[in-house]
Amino acid sequence: MDAILVEVLTKEFGDMTAVDGVSFTVKEGEIFGYLGPNGAGKTTTIRMLTTLVPPTFGRASIFGYDIKEQAYEAKQQFGVVPEVSNSYDDLSVWQNLMLSGQLYSIPKAQRVTKGEELLSVLGLNDHRDKRSKHLSKGLRRRLVLGMALITSPRLLFLDEPTSGLDVESVRLFREMMTDLVKKGTTIFLTTHNIEEASLLCDRVAIIVKGKIVALDSPERLRMTIAASRSITISVAEAPANIESLLSSMATVTAVLKEGDKWRMFTPDPPRVLLELNIMIANYGIKPISINTYGPSLEDVFLSVVKNERGS
Ligand SMILES: Nc1ncnc2c1ncn2[C@@H]1O[C@H](COP(=O)(O)OP(=O)(O)OP(=O)(O)O)[C@@H](O)[C@H]1O
Ligand SMILES: [Mg+2]
Repeated sequence: MDAILVEVLTKEFGDMTAVDGVSFTVKEGEIFGYLGPNGAGKTTTIRMLTTLVPPTFGRASIFGYDIKEQAYEAKQQFGVVPEVSNSYDDLSVWQNLMLSGQLYSIPKAQRVTKGEELLSVLGLNDHRDKRSKHLSKGLRRRLVLGMALITSPRLLFLDEPTSGLDVESVRLFREMMTDLVKKGTTIFLTTHNIEEASLLCDRVAIIVKGKIVALDSPERLRMTIAASRSITISVAEAPANIESLLSSMATVTAVLKEGDKWRMFTPDPPRVLLELNIMIANYGIKPISINTYGPSLEDVFLSVVKNERGS
């Protein structure tokens, strides 16, 4: 059975269509990425799927339960880490965990055991009695993940869980996601971080202005990422044929002049840097600056949208 089934799901706010007829399925046990820029409609999709806002049109079900007709049953299937952490300010870390368990009628012994386990895996033992409003952003986010997991849900919605967190918290979140999926949990993850989507997800939907423009394995995303890496060089002195020299390098796929810089696109920036060094010495090129760039989200979207249209 599909963990999530979505058909032509649409949300309008007045004249504005935030989510524009999206359809997809999420298979049980996968990490499904929902990747898009700010304002694409990611949070609105999650809010509809988690029954917080009603769709204007279309339908969806969670493990077979219709989100409108069987909202109660649907809600029993998932946990949510929303975009904005929703723990209760004046309750302690432990009280927040226990309350979340109570709301879902988890028997006391079970929620205490699970709560202790979560404090430990989330690195929250030292903060157990701290009020939620006194937690740092990253710790609060960990608590909210704990609150979502106290019921051991079979499906977890995570709305940009790692956004704005430090390296250690990001690693913890990613490790937890991988562990949960190993144990059979299904994860719906929104992100605007391409690397995160390609690292973690089994499949990725790319959403732009409310529409899904691509739905793919991360393999193609990775290829797109690779193809949109670039190196720029600005020079004080260079031979007249610099453009053809730069283009002649083995892994350079295109060269663009941008103001006082040349931009070389390449799937292999380190190799181009090596060749560039040799060229600089051989042709008396005097560089002012050399920079390496990863792909921007826009590059990837443009490329995906172009490919979609072309295919
Ligand atoms: N309650 C609302 N009323 C009116 N417009 C809304 C409402 N909620 C969202 N929108 C609009 O819908 C669009 C999609 O918003 P949404 O929050 O779903 O985007 P997002 O992909 O989650 O973006 P971000 O990456 O910034 O979190 C935006 O243009 C937003 O302004
Ligand atoms: Mg959002």
